[in-house]
Amino acid sequence: MSALFQQFQEQGYLVLPGFNTDAECDALMKRAEELAAGYDYSGHPSVFQTTEQASSTDDYFLQSGDKIAYFFEKDAFDESGQLKNDLFHSLNKIGHALHDLDPVFDRFSRSPQMLQLAAELNMQEYVLIQSMMIFKHARIGGVVDVHQDSTFLYTEPESCVAYWFALEDATIGNGCLWAKPGGHRTPLRSWFRRKEGGGTEMVELDATPWDMEGMQPLEVKKGTCIVLHGLLPHYSMPNTSGKSRQAYAIHTIHRGAEYPQANWLRRDLPGLRSW
Ligand code: FE2
Repeated sequence: MSALFQQFQEQGYLVLPGFNTDAECDALMKRAEELAAGYDYSGHPSVFQTTEQASSTDDYFLQSGDKIAYFFEKDAFDESGQLKNDLFHSLNKIGHALHDLDPVFDRFSRSPQMLQLAAELNMQEYVLIQSMMIFKHARIGGVVDVHQDSTFLYTEPESCVAYWFALEDATIGNGCLWAKPGGHRTPLRSWFRRKEGGGTEMVELDATPWDMEGMQPLEVKKGTCIVLHGLLPHYSMPNTSGKSRQAYAIHTIHRGAEYPQANWLRRDLPGLRSW
């Protein structure tokens, strides 16, 4: 067992500074901006202010597992369906199959250092199931409430591991991650899944309240990789600063774990690739 793996098991997360070069981070942000610039959002469900909006937004999300899809900040549109800011600064994130569909994101997700890390953590048998480019724009990016990632990528046994890459410096002011060492040694609280008959639901699995005491800000430099255990409660505050906090995240699950059909994200599992 490597020292790194041991630390991950004990702490529930790892902070690895200098994992990516500035040039690698810049290339990914540039590619994300290109993708955003090429996106014709006229058909996006958020544009339409009808009673059907909630369900069509839900459908857009539920169908994004094997696509490059665009998600707007809450309140990005005014009442007439016009963006309040320019398109790029209205986006909350792009997801959820960037790592398989875009060559630049593919390269970043399966870099030589990523392969080496997966080997050190003994996670060669994990597959990349989800990716997200998260913008957290200056003064726009909102809060992400405390959660465990396994809530959204539920497997039996639990196996989700996330890799969160700081493409820019992350500070308390611009909404860095917060987590507590050892917080992953608590049960999975809920499962976000598809509801029979359509839509989604959050099902409570365990009523243990969040223990916010001892939560620490993970302030990190550009190029840092943070590895997160699927059971680790974490959150981030709104970006109240003048600097954006762009990050990229990939989520992995064990190839051999059972992946229930009720999970929100649907992928052709045998088609999923590892590192
Ligand atoms: Fe998360």
